[in-house]
Amino acid sequence: MQEHAYQQCIRTDCRETYALDEVLFQCRKCGGLLDVAYDWDKLTVPQSLAFFERRWGTSGRHLAARADYSGVWRFRELLPFARLDDIVTVGEGRTTLQQADRLADQLKVKQGCLFLQYEGFNPSGSFKDNGMTAGFTMARFLRRRRVACASTGNTSASMAMYASMAAPANEPPVQGIVFIGSGKIAYGKLSQALDHGALTLQIEGDFDACMRRVIELSDRLSLYLLNSLNPFRLEGQKSIMYRVLEGLDWEVPDWIIVPGGNLGNSSAFGKAWTELLQLGLVQKVPRLAIINATGARTLEELYNQRGLRWNGGRVDDEIVNRCYQEMDATGLRAHTIASAIEINRPVNLSKALRALDAMNGVVRHVDDDTILDHKAMVGRFGYSCEPASAATVAGLHLLRDEGVIGREERVVCILTGHGLKDPDATVKYHAGIDAKLAKWPEPVTPCGRMANSPVRVPDEVEAICQAIGQSMSS
Ligand code: F0G
Repeated sequence: MQEHAYQQCIRTDCRETYALDEVLFQCRKCGGLLDVAYDWDKLTVPQSLAFFERRWGTSGRHLAARADYSGVWRFRELLPFARLDDIVTVGEGRTTLQQADRLADQLKVKQGCLFLQYEGFNPSGSFKDNGMTAGFTMARFLRRRRVACASTGNTSASMAMYASMAAPANEPPVQGIVFIGSGKIAYGKLSQALDHGALTLQIEGDFDACMRRVIELSDRLSLYLLNSLNPFRLEGQKSIMYRVLEGLDWEVPDWIIVPGGNLGNSSAFGKAWTELLQLGLVQKVPRLAIINATGARTLEELYNQRGLRWNGGRVDDEIVNRCYQEMDATGLRAHTIASAIEINRPVNLSKALRALDAMNGVVRHVDDDTILDHKAMVGRFGYSCEPASAATVAGLHLLRDEGVIGREERVVCILTGHGLKDPDATVKYHAGIDAKLAKWPEPVTPCGRMANSPVRVPDEVEAICQAIGQSMSS
């Protein structure tokens, strides 16, 4: 590990520091979340972001070439906690910023102003790989061979994938242990954890119950925790912002829109921009919009309804505790088709508040029907994404209608996961719930506004021609 990097409590009235190799996920003194912090003035940081363009290389066996191939590690001077030979990479983060003009038309955004950062292109199909490469690099440095996470699906898919290949053949394998809520996970994601050989524990309960258990058991069983509570994971996720900048020729956009679940991504983005500003690599930061699903809107409730703020690093825990007690008392539990963000108690809450503060942010929620309509819209005019990812585009639509985002502002929506993660949600939307069972000539009942139902046709040439003709004239 590098000198000049350490861990630090984010609470301004504490700021306790810990060495990089101390394994802890909350401050021992006050229970606050931890950051990876750097003495930037003692490190060599590029003078300009264009420095990173020299790393557009191809995969190779050489350590530096492998790191350069990664969309995370080619920015290694901006997450300088790891030495080159500890880096565990599978070529993550080679993702794309797509200019989405047709989609922009639908949302009353000016052409040339809407971009989709498609993190579905990662090896395991979601943005989690950006963080997992950093978490596994730390696990390798610490020689940890048992890693664990609670997950709504993508974290477990990514962790299982890295575990299956983190250790060279001459070393003992790494065992991945995932905790998932029963019936709470999309099959695409579950299949990945199973295929990669992770011990998959389906706990009777939801994500929050899994999270509690995995924290409790990490210490007892010496499991290395790879949820976004692990501050090293968030260092990797900062690179999504560096790639957005790169896709815009290093020009800062006006808005970043991200779905809010456990709030790791929004926290990482806030840290990325704050550091870039501090280092003089950008002159301003974009605004941040975090979008909850209506059925899982704890952040929205706390931020908009109860006025919870970062408050200079002194977050009012009383407000949070009262809200959680009320949720328990009324039996309110997160429920949304966007299963990736079906979370009641986001573990990175205080870091996300810090990000909202640093980026003059807003929080909104969108309901499931709206999410699915916008998911279909993204599919029609861009890359296919999973429901949670489409919350960003639905959120943009809402913020345009409200006038909070202007027509000519440059907006980047983060599409966090691939559409194939949850094909059930997609097929049900387009074809109606019973579509798979219906036989010709029974009609299919589409449920969505943007539905593109399959057309049932008998196996006869004329009938097929007629169906094609109809579709061409409509
Ligand atoms: N989008 C997708 C596709 C996700 O899988 C997640 C989180 C989020 C958005 C929310 O991101 O937690 O950083 O706010 N999935 C986690 C998991 C919780 O276990 O896979 P966040």
